Amino acid sequence: MKNLYILEHAAECERLNQQSEIEQFSIADELKKIKFPEVGNVLDAGCGSGLAARYIKEVFPTLEVEACDSSEARIADAMAEKSEIYYYHADISELDKLGKFYDLILNRYVAHHLNGKLYQKCLHAFYDSLNVQGQVIIIDADGALINIGTTNKKLIKYLDKIKKHFPGDLQQARKIPSMLKSAGFKDIKYDIEVMNFQGSNRIKEIQQYEQRLEFSKDMYIFILGNKSEYLNFKELYLNEIKDSPLFYNKFIINAHKF
Ligand SMILES: C[S@@+](CC[C@H](N)C(=O)[O-])C[C@H]1O[C@@H](n2cnc3c(N)ncnc32)[C@H](O)[C@@H]1O
Repeated sequence: MKNLYILEHAAECERLNQQSEIEQFSIADELKKIKFPEVGNVLDAGCGSGLAARYIKEVFPTLEVEACDSSEARIADAMAEKSEIYYYHADISELDKLGKFYDLILNRYVAHHLNGKLYQKCLHAFYDSLNVQGQVIIIDADGALINIGTTNKKLIKYLDKIKKHFPGDLQQARKIPSMLKSAGFKDIKYDIEVMNFQGSNRIKEIQQYEQRLEFSKDMYIFILGNKSEYLNFKELYLNEIKDSPLFYNKFIINAHKF
């Protein structure tokens, strides 16, 4: 399923950068309540285009910032931006095998892409890759794609099918606090904010959906059975989100090793 997925598309870097310009995806807002260490090293795990890593380096210049991703294309995109960040290619579920240790690991909008078993493995790997005083910050949207207030029976059927066969878990975020506990984390705290798309933010989020669907269309064709079902779904979905309630719950989770 991996190669059918959005994450490898050539224009994904540009999409991620545009996404971060939507008010509901503001990195500054997400990190404003987190107490960052004054010195130490930080990893942006699953960094995509590297925008969160660059933000952290800019706001906390005394921190050493590294960033990794399993996509060689994303690492190449991130490295093309001038910065003092060390980027490397890695699967975050195997992070503990690298013998690297961090004071803070950030994992932003990655969790729902992975199934529960694999994400639990990532959390164990994060735990083992933290220094004694280390902490994780995990940010993810719970209900992306599937939280749409619609009464359209055909669309509801499509969404049920996608929810069932999606290779990750579109409601992973709500499970992360208990998954962190299972991985041994302490002092687990979280905020839940409604990402409620209205006005110009809705227009931008619809544009994001046009790209999210198109970039991973092979996956949707696989789930829905054929190209014509995918095109039907896409048309219904993009039409419905023009004015139906479109909302996700953003989880901003902070936990410590000890
Ligand atoms: C939606 S993007 C988010 C990127 C970035 N964190 C941001 O906030 O814009 C998800 C990223 O997770 C990466 N990813 C998914 N599974 C991964 C894994 N097992 N190890 C490392 N990176 C992974 C993808 O390649 C992709 O770049």
